[in-house]
Amino acid sequence: MTMHEQDLNFSGRTIFVSGGTSGINLGIAEAFSRAGGKLAVLSRSQEKVNAAVQKLQEYGSEAIGFSADVRDFEAVETSLKKAHENLGEIDVLISGAAGNFPAPVLGMSANGFKSVIDIDLLGTFNVLRAGYAFLKKPGATIINISAPQAYVPTPLQAHVCAAKAGVDMLTRVLALEWGDQGIRVNSIVPGPIEGTEGMARLAPTPTSQAAVAASVPMKRMGTTTDVAKLALVLASPLADYINGAVIPVDGGWSLTGFGDLMNKLASQFKSSAQ
Ligand code: COA
Ligand code: NAP
Repeated sequence: MTMHEQDLNFSGRTIFVSGGTSGINLGIAEAFSRAGGKLAVLSRSQEKVNAAVQKLQEYGSEAIGFSADVRDFEAVETSLKKAHENLGEIDVLISGAAGNFPAPVLGMSANGFKSVIDIDLLGTFNVLRAGYAFLKKPGATIINISAPQAYVPTPLQAHVCAAKAGVDMLTRVLALEWGDQGIRVNSIVPGPIEGTEGMARLAPTPTSQAAVAASVPMKRMGTTTDVAKLALVLASPLADYINGAVIPVDGGWSLTGFGDLMNKLASQFKSSAQ
């Protein structure tokens, strides 16, 4: 088998990223831009959309953006249709829009729970359901951005745990339903990624951020580039036979879950047993 530099060249390809105006998703959009792709990004804030489009255009790539809420199917569909009209068939469709706040179940209203389910899970359904019509068939790749909460039960994160577990199930079911049309569907599961809104919400102080970094086997948080590299590979011919996979990019964090914390507690168990 020969691998070619060409494999990671996205010239002439169209990439659509929901939530692609900040953090991890913008990092992914930037990586595809630098690899020659044509980018479309969507999020609610027109200001963020404008700033992201300007940044992506600075890499010399074609880029357009849409202000829309992923909870609104028609708005999502209209944006995808316009992206298709302007940039051609969509080669890579990425669902990354999400919301999060830390709260125990008893500290969140039904509407609080629903807001995260609606953005993360229904929003992913909307992007994929509306996006299907505009995908290149065969050949398109779908990437859903999941989170460790999808399989690590996490206090204060019931809404995110439920939503992202659902996102990964959508990945698997659509891998089955759309595989025969040459569409691959996979999830990327980022670990704790430095400098992002998500981490700022869950670990708001330098001390808590240091504790999170220390709990990763590689003893550092990830970067948006770490995640973007996996997205490039998954969307490339190098991943031609990867379908329905849920892949962590987390320095090994998901191997231990709360194992590191248990390591710290281990000394107490020993002393009580002796
Ligand atoms: N604790 C408990 N409940 C909270 C909360 C918190 N910290 N923050 C919001 N809520 C509740 C609100 O009180 C509201 O419920 P209510 O109507 O019963 O009072 C519900 O969540 C929806 O809040 P609202 O601000 O109207 O929703 P929104 O749709 O404008 O925003 C959020 C959605 C809440 C997820 C908001 O944080 C957001 O837009 N996040 C996007 C950015 C982000 O989270 N980035 C990290 C990505 S992982
Ligand atoms: P972020 O910068 O807040 O990214 C969220 C994006 O989604 C923003 O562009 C936001 O823009 C958009 N968005 C939010 N609600 C939306 C809605 N209703 N409709 C349309 N767009 C919406 O956060 P991040 O931390 O980089 O997270 C990005 C992704 O990575 C999320 O899927 C998250 O679950 C996942 N993740 C993050 C981490 C981490 O360490 N940060 C770890 C694991 C997984 P607007 O505000 O303009 O709408």
